[in-house]
Amino acid sequence: MEIINRRQRMFSISRKLRREAKTVAFVPTMGALHAGHLKLVEEARQRCDILIVSIFVNPTQFNDKGDLEKYPRDLTADAAMLAEYDVDYIFAPDADEIYPAGFSTYVDVEGVTTTLEGGSRPGHFRGVATVVTILFNTVRPDLAFFGQKDAQQVAVIKRLTYDLGFETEIVVVPTVREESGLAMSSRNERLSPEEREKAAVIIDALREAKTAFKKGERNAADLAQIVKDRIATEVMANLDYVAIVDRDSLQTIEKIGDEEALILIAVKFGPVRLIDNVILNRKQ
Ligand code: PAF
Repeated sequence: MEIINRRQRMFSISRKLRREAKTVAFVPTMGALHAGHLKLVEEARQRCDILIVSIFVNPTQFNDKGDLEKYPRDLTADAAMLAEYDVDYIFAPDADEIYPAGFSTYVDVEGVTTTLEGGSRPGHFRGVATVVTILFNTVRPDLAFFGQKDAQQVAVIKRLTYDLGFETEIVVVPTVREESGLAMSSRNERLSPEEREKAAVIIDALREAKTAFKKGERNAADLAQIVKDRIATEVMANLDYVAIVDRDSLQTIEKIGDEEALILIAVKFGPVRLIDNVILNRKQ
């Protein structure tokens, strides 16, 4: 396993891999790896000749400077984990390798970025779309792996991949959960033990709505109400939003038909904001 810091070195390796007709899978991360990331790595490993993981805490996707500074960084620990998963290359550039002096080109995906997470984190998806574009252009992967937990991020990345003509297949991996059902996230570390236990109410609420859907409920407002009522039973939980949307366009749905839909949720426990979702009418 080689750790690459320079963009030029990553370019020349990806050029060489293309010449050798190797299949390249890519898992972009911001480090602080947990079981959710490792699941992406595990899935990716099975689908390629060469596996590349990036570790880059992307400054442009943080709308709060304090969050950027506080973001956990431990390349040595992350690299040790990735070595166990037979990763070929870690791409871990410094910020000025990705954003050189005078950097002034950003990728703005319209539509899918304006609501939900985009509403409460202005500029966040512009930063994600910009860095993913730069990373795709540098690594040139055949496949790139993302977690279903960040469903809106997935919709943004699928949109930009299609619109900008990247020849990269986006593979979405189901959410990995703690034993309680809480979706794995680096933010879980910031919960108190009690909050962490109580945060399982998020998936309980989503599952309750999904069960109602399976029993025939098609009215989105009624399904959303089931979620709200369940969240309201937990005093530590503050609901930010629950939305029922089309899986790709993220447009709000009133009555659920045959298309894939998502119930998306954001809930705050103290200052920590957690997101999760379930898929309705899953096709694959
Ligand atoms: O999901 C993440 O960890 C980040 O948003 C990503 C995709 C690595 C871009 O910085």
